[in-house]
Amino acid sequence: MDPMVLRRNRPLDTVTMRRLFGDRTGLRLVWPDAAWPFDHRQWHAALDPDRGHRSWLIELGGAVVGHGALRPGAEPGIRMVSFLYLAPAVRDRGHGLAMVEALVARAGEEPGVDRLQLRTRDYNPRAIRCYEKAGFRVFAREGTLVRMERALSSNDT
Ligand SMILES: CC(C)(COP(=O)(O)OP(=O)(O)OC[C@H]1O[C@@H](n2cnc3c(N)ncnc32)[C@H](O)[C@@H]1OP(=O)(O)O)[C@@H](O)C(=O)NCCC(=O)NCCS
Repeated sequence: MDPMVLRRNRPLDTVTMRRLFGDRTGLRLVWPDAAWPFDHRQWHAALDPDRGHRSWLIELGGAVVGHGALRPGAEPGIRMVSFLYLAPAVRDRGHGLAMVEALVARAGEEPGVDRLQLRTRDYNPRAIRCYEKAGFRVFAREGTLVRMERALSSNDT
């Protein structure tokens, strides 16, 4: 398996993100509320580094194949694992788990962060399975929305 590289997406390259997410279906999987056609301003607002959002492009064999982000949560000790996406050709081979684990490690580098949360949908069982493998557990459901979380221990850093 090619080693996965997380390249910090700064300044935010939404042109590459638009190309990566592809069609409307891909965009809606990564963010159900995303505007279509792809709205660069919406993504810049959602991932504003001045508000503590951090974005990474995921590379395999030198090619951009995915995206992931860490965003502030509702409380200071919480980070949201957000906007996870892998290109269809590289799904279902364990890269999703590797990506989530790499983001968990990044969150562990931030002082005072002790909990990670994420939001997914009940119609996305592959994503739920991937997050369960990474130690997340469901703590709330609202309609199709599934909210998952895991603790962040010092062993994760
Ligand atoms: C979600 C995503 C990041 C997961 O990455 P991935 O590389 O596909 O995931 P992994 O291979 O690490 O793990 C997927 C697991 O789900 C399982 N799976 C696949 N399809 C499934 C299905 N329909 N139902 C249940 N489990 C399924 C796989 O078998 C695997 O589990 P296993 O290792 O126990 O066999 C990736 O699929 C993706 O980007 N999807 C499109 C965008 C998206 O849905 N983003 C998440 C928004 S919350």
